[in-house]
Amino acid sequence: MKAFILAAHGKVSMTEKEKPQTGYGELLVKIYAASLNHRDQWIREDRYPGIKTGVTIGSDGAGVVEAAGCTQDDSWVGKEVIINPNINWGPDPAAQSGDFQILGMPVDGTFAEYVKVACDRVHKKPDHLSMEQAAALPLGGLTAYRALFTNGGLKAGEKVLINGIGGGVAQFAFQFAMAAGAEVWVTSGQKGKIKFAAERGAKGGFLYTEENWPDEALKSTDRGFDLVIDSAGGDQLNQLIDVLQPGGRLVIYGATTGVPSSLNLRKIFWKQIRLQGSTMGNDKEFEEMLAFVSRHKIEPIMEEPLPFDRIEDALDKMKEGKQLGKLVVKMD
Ligand SMILES: NC(=O)c1ccc[n+]([C@@H]2O[C@H](COP(=O)([O-])OP(=O)(O)OC[C@H]3O[C@@H](n4cnc5c(N)ncnc54)[C@H](OP(=O)(O)O)[C@@H]3O)[C@@H](O)[C@H]2O)c1
Repeated sequence: MKAFILAAHGKVSMTEKEKPQTGYGELLVKIYAASLNHRDQWIREDRYPGIKTGVTIGSDGAGVVEAAGCTQDDSWVGKEVIINPNINWGPDPAAQSGDFQILGMPVDGTFAEYVKVACDRVHKKPDHLSMEQAAALPLGGLTAYRALFTNGGLKAGEKVLINGIGGGVAQFAFQFAMAAGAEVWVTSGQKGKIKFAAERGAKGGFLYTEENWPDEALKSTDRGFDLVIDSAGGDQLNQLIDVLQPGGRLVIYGATTGVPSSLNLRKIFWKQIRLQGSTMGNDKEFEEMLAFVSRHKIEPIMEEPLPFDRIEDALDKMKEGKQLGKLVVKMD
């Protein structure tokens, strides 16, 4: 079968691999569509922990179950499914166990014609989504759900700022917050993306490339935001603290631009700010996220799907930050 692997440190390539054999408790899923996460680009750049060469990358996928290695789960064969990429979260809902892994490194992932997963990793594809839309959902949807609701405690009517709306996770955070009845604001490096969000109900947006955007945000929101959701990190973190209301919450799930060179600790304690880290989500949150998406008929914001052979082009686009929402590849 065709598979897109990490061929060497810093080098990815399309190759031929043996079709996986399922063992007891495993399912073989024929992939119809897969989606990219920034994690795949970090792996390609050799900037991710636990990297192993030869592994098929890709955490997100949707397809049809072709074979079951366990008799009690034969009922899955022929069903359209999406895959939960979270492996071994463990018993504590508050944080993942030491055995936690993510599909697509160090175990073979979804950028292949077939992937082998444990029976409890598959879920019925939401009816209102196409295969391509469903493939966009798992990792980004799960991360956004936990960041906003479990860790961010978002309530209807609150003001929330989603930093960097063009991102795959960010667009889910935007859509989930809208569906939850929050007042949603966004930032972006590109005006067109702010306009796109405003047309879909965002109250307003700010160009994070403009130095005075926090002043503008404070003026527009009367004292600032209840909640800010961020994955950019870097020195901008101090600006995100500036735009929070006293008692506000900042949830961080990434550090795309690195760590801050300094952090305004005095502002954090004086304004009674809560800083909260967030990573993916547990299995219960995955199920809740799927139910939320089905209930609100949420469709991922995504670019036009590309053929599977063009994964590298899609990764290039992600590296340059040109995309709006999720990048998806589909099998022929
Ligand atoms: N902890 C976890 O479980 C978890 C899960 C998923 C992702 N992540 C991390 O979160 C980050 C985003 O992942 P993704 O898959 O959503 O990536 P992505 O689709 O590539 O999105 C990246 C987005 O980040 C925004 N951005 C870049 N520089 C920025 C800046 N200086 N200020 C504000 N926003 C900026 C851009 O938004 P605009 O285009 O609007 O400018 C860009 O589109 C990555 O670092 C990833 O590793 C962590």
